[in-house]
Amino acid sequence: MEFETLVYKRKMVRSFLEKEISDKDLEEVIRIALRGPSAGFSQGVEFVVARSRPAREQFWSCVTTPGWLEGSKSHCGMNKAQAVVLVLVSKEKYIARYQAPDKAYSAWGLEESWPAPYWYIDAGAAVMLALLEATNLGLGALFFAVDRGWEELRTFFGISEELLFVGAIALGVPNGSDRFGSAKALTRRTFEDSIKIF
Ligand SMILES: Cc1cc2nc3c(=O)[nH]c(=O)nc-3n(C[C@H](O)[C@H](O)[C@H](O)COP(=O)(O)O)c2cc1C
Repeated sequence: MEFETLVYKRKMVRSFLEKEISDKDLEEVIRIALRGPSAGFSQGVEFVVARSRPAREQFWSCVTTPGWLEGSKSHCGMNKAQAVVLVLVSKEKYIARYQAPDKAYSAWGLEESWPAPYWYIDAGAAVMLALLEATNLGLGALFFAVDRGWEELRTFFGISEELLFVGAIALGVPNGSDRFGSAKALTRRTFEDSIKIF
């Protein structure tokens, strides 16, 4: 797909069909996500994928309370997504990378010296690429916050303590009936309001 078309076409999808996606497409989404920029090429972003039905059911039961999905107008079709990609990042990899001799000038070997947490910036870039590639393949995707159940997920999926949780991407076949979400309720800021050129 032509790049600008792809960017305008990408929208968060919160409702999916109970329809398989191929392993090839799933892998392609992750492969593209891993081509993102990385501060000092630290490459601290990692993914754990809940793919099988039991793994997906375990994911949803860890992160939602009973009945929440069924009762949610905006998210009730979300658990039909055929893969849930947990987005994780190792802050330690960034700190260690910036302690290397070629980065010693930066003082970023100390966490408090960082102007912004670049590990989360890299994770955001990876997520964006994943969302774009999902759109490119005709799939739907939602990046969403996970604000409960991380410790259970850590145990179930064997995720090391070193990895910080960023959020999750639901990936599947869109059912085309998305009517909710902040972007449907609010207006987009104008170009002029969002930029100053001197
Ligand atoms: C960091 C981040 C966290 C988000 N968390 C959620 C979420 O928890 N649940 C949700 O439905 N949408 C979530 N969204 C999606 C936003 O609501 C959405 O991107 C925004 O309304 C713009 O809509 P669009 O992406 O469809 O253009 C999140 C987006 C970002 C970038």
